[in-house]
Amino acid sequence: MSAVLSRPAFDAPGYVKHRKLIAWVADIARLTQPDRIVWADGSAQEFDRLCEEMVKAGTLKRLNPAKRPNSYLAWSDPSDVARVEDRTFICTDDPADAGPTNNWIAPEAMRRTLQSLFAGCMRGRTLYVVPFSMGPLGSRIAQIGVELTDSPYVVVNMRLMTRMGRAVYDVLGSDGEFVPCVHSVGRPLAPGEKDVPWPCNPTKYIVHFPATREIWSYGSGYGGNALLGKKCLALRIASVMGRDQGWLAEHMLILAVTAPDGRKYRIAAAFPSACGKTNFAMLIPPPALSGWKVTTIGEDIAWIKPQADGRLYAINPEAGFFGVAPGTGAQTNRNAVETLRENVIFTNVALTDDGDVWWEGLSPPPAHLLDWQGKDWTPGCGRKAAHPNARFTVAAAQCPSMDADWENPDGVPIDAFVFGGRRATTVPLVTEARSWLEGVYLAATLGSETTAAQAGAQGVLRRDPFAMLPFCGYHMGDYFQHWLRMGERLTRSGGRPPKIFYVNWFRTDAHGAFIWPGFAENMRVLQWIVGRIRGEAGGVEHALGISPRYEDLNWDGLDFSRSSFEELMAIHAQAWRAELESHAELFDRLRDRLPPVLEQLRRELAARFATI
Ligand code: GTP
Ligand code: SPV
Ligand code: MN
Repeated sequence: MSAVLSRPAFDAPGYVKHRKLIAWVADIARLTQPDRIVWADGSAQEFDRLCEEMVKAGTLKRLNPAKRPNSYLAWSDPSDVARVEDRTFICTDDPADAGPTNNWIAPEAMRRTLQSLFAGCMRGRTLYVVPFSMGPLGSRIAQIGVELTDSPYVVVNMRLMTRMGRAVYDVLGSDGEFVPCVHSVGRPLAPGEKDVPWPCNPTKYIVHFPATREIWSYGSGYGGNALLGKKCLALRIASVMGRDQGWLAEHMLILAVTAPDGRKYRIAAAFPSACGKTNFAMLIPPPALSGWKVTTIGEDIAWIKPQADGRLYAINPEAGFFGVAPGTGAQTNRNAVETLRENVIFTNVALTDDGDVWWEGLSPPPAHLLDWQGKDWTPGCGRKAAHPNARFTVAAAQCPSMDADWENPDGVPIDAFVFGGRRATTVPLVTEARSWLEGVYLAATLGSETTAAQAGAQGVLRRDPFAMLPFCGYHMGDYFQHWLRMGERLTRSGGRPPKIFYVNWFRTDAHGAFIWPGFAENMRVLQWIVGRIRGEAGGVEHALGISPRYEDLNWDGLDFSRSSFEELMAIHAQAWRAELESHAELFDRLRDRLPPVLEQLRRELAARFATI
């Protein structure tokens, strides 16, 4: 290893006092051999400079400043457009600790693989040192990470998604704890070789070592594969921390809903990727329900901790949104559209002729566009203009619906949990679980049709327990047990665990059309949930729990027939017998560590449906 290559690591800025961190950066630089090292400070000037460099390199296009000030568009390599679940690994000593729902490779074997993949992988590139905090800087619940990456796109996205920059080193001091995250696009440059706009590698590895709390990511520059604070740290690693320390890291939005009488309730809701968290978190009630107000605390991840008062408190560890663009429009999510006026990085949406962005669902289609692959696009051409997993990256602070407490380091007290998937059939609009155990059962057996958020086939029904299938860093059976214990603990400490609800906005009719209008109209379901929390709203008990009758929902301003409602709520015994068989398949996979009460409850349900 030449002194020339190792020297820059030791030229850490004077404000970095952490010797272990500096030594680690030097180690990784020695392994990956970048041409230079840049210690990101998180300043606006740095952001602008990196964006300018990426415009020159062809990675970003600057959007028309008159239309979309200080905003950029990236088109990724067409092979690098979503999370790669089949390339995501949890490396525990004992494969049973990762569990059957995670990919596992022995730590020593994986370390050997990583050493050879990362050797020289940053040649010709810059290694950026990116310090970030998940959670408000310096707060006791926050976790610090440092991502070493050769992607300037990652650096600028991390600045929007996390609290990133110099101030993190003040919190770290000389010996603070941080999660080391190493990322490379895996595309070294030979001397003089011209770079491509979106470097990446067909070989991809997204690797977690829960025991040492380390993250290594290779070959992808996209989203959750590359912005390592998000799914890798704040969910997979944090879920393990939560298991060990008695808290929860969840794939949940957090919203507050204020009733017309001024009383405020906080709800955390888990839906799988691209199943409506961002929309629900920013809901604007329909005009007839304008006495209600929804404010946003988070839209993707919640860290939830029990407090001395016997309640659960949730914080949003993120500082920005990496949200699905397609389907986001003034009708469906006006708050998001307003958030996106300026200072946005768009990825894989279409470019308009006047230098702005467009995607399906934003507005009526323009006569001509360049699609997400840079090809000419016209409304009749038969292709999508934006990739279905096209995303926007933007600071949460720009969102008009943010709650006053969204950065409160103590979090907000949770009154109810909501779980939901994308189900064309079988699952009714809304059901309240009668107990914590029944709620855990419904969440554990959650099913959803896959979306473009993950590489692979779309629209395939799979079990996605708690919407955490791709994000739980340990054995799913242990995770269920952790949730059950949390309920017991809250009860023991004199509190009452939050109510648990189960929703489905996505049921379709005989023609394949959504029965439920969704979006703003989900306020009607939210109103019923609040009514149940208050003990005011009526309902009818059935095999799965309690659901509203037609007369229990507020229909002001919406023409929705009783027969459509019946179709939406129907629980068909035959479909549920098949559903419970599918639950059995999941439980069988998890049998080594499945809490027996869940299988017991499944059998009780099966017995009930056998007689209907
Ligand atoms: P991730 O960021 O991947 O975790 O996803 P998310 O859960 O935040 O997804 P998001 O809110 O961005 O929703 C993605 C898709 O769901 C968009 O295409 C929306 O149009 C659609 N969607 C959201 N809410 C509803 C709804 O109430 N009804 C229907 N039919 N579609 C919805
Ligand atoms: C998800 O897929 O659930 C996301 C987007 O929130 S990504 O950050 O790419 O994982
Ligand atoms: Mn998500």
